Amino acid sequence: MNATNVSEAALAELMEQARQAAKHSYSPYSGFKVGAALLLSNGEFVTGTNVENMSFGLTICAERSAVMQAVSRFGPQIRIHAVAVANLNQAASPPCGACRQVLSEFTLPQAPVIFPAAESERTMEFTELLPMAFELSTKQD
Ligand code: THU
Repeated sequence: MNATNVSEAALAELMEQARQAAKHSYSPYSGFKVGAALLLSNGEFVTGTNVENMSFGLTICAERSAVMQAVSRFGPQIRIHAVAVANLNQAASPPCGACRQVLSEFTLPQAPVIFPAAESERTMEFTELLPMAFELSTKQD
């Protein structure tokens, strides 16, 4: 068991879903195929993949894709209890800084984040990955 009481079976399923999502990657410029999967407070799994763009800067990462998908499907009250990232390139890929900030909007501080590291998969708590997320004091709801 881990900090948010997500079962090992659920984490294994989450990783598999991230791997499957990576197969849908649109990444003709980098060739880097990334998938992300989120386990939500309502028990649902949601995935996303990276979608690149010719203008490069408009590319969206797999993790942010997954967050947009989660809110679009289930609304703004969702909370993320676990995150898994995978890629089909046998490379390390922790979530980028921009994705960490976007994840922070919905992710529980103790949520496990599993990602491909140099040797194998690595799991860190979300607050370890982003200790000082930007927070807006005027936030409502
Ligand atoms: N990418 C992700 O999908 N997630 C990350 O956290 C980092 C990078 C994607 C963006 C781009 O399509 C490719 O990986 C190479 O940077």
